[in-house]
Amino acid sequence: MMQSAWVVLAATLVAQGASAQSSGPEHGLTPTQATGQRLYAQSCGVCHAKPTITSGRYGPALSKESLGGLDEAMTQVISQGTGRMPGFRHHFDAAQIQSIVAYLKTLPVPPPDAPAPKTAERRDDN
Ligand code: HEC
Repeated sequence: MMQSAWVVLAATLVAQGASAQSSGPEHGLTPTQATGQRLYAQSCGVCHAKPTITSGRYGPALSKESLGGLDEAMTQVISQGTGRMPGFRHHFDAAQIQSIVAYLKTLPVPPPDAPAPKTAERRDDN
């Protein structure tokens, strides 16, 4: 029946949303990665994580593939910022930024949130 299909779909979405959020250190992280995870949760998640299924996200989802998976490019963006993202070079020291990069490199590539729009960079939420 249609209705039960919807229930299954909704439950699946909820489960995915829950598992996509990381609360507390995950198993298998090195101390450096765990530090990065903590800093990320404090300073980056506000823009780069999706708090709920329905809420939008300001920045793109991050993963080990962000910026081509290049440590140097990640370090650069985190330090200098971009047009819409603040730089963190006065906020974090080099070691802290490296730990965040190390953590980003543990993140799997996320599934697309929705059917991908044709123009990948279009955002309506700002
Ligand atoms: C105020 C919101 C905001 C905060 C806070 C923020 N970012 Fe961003 N970030 C963005 C936006 C928006 C972009 C997309 C680039 C643009 O549009 O200028 C971005 C882009 C990036 C990218 C490049 C991703 C890509 O695929 O191009 C990385 C890596 C990144 N941010 C890491 C971080 C890290 C690590 C932190 C925490 C230290 C952080 N950001 C904090 C808004 C934010």
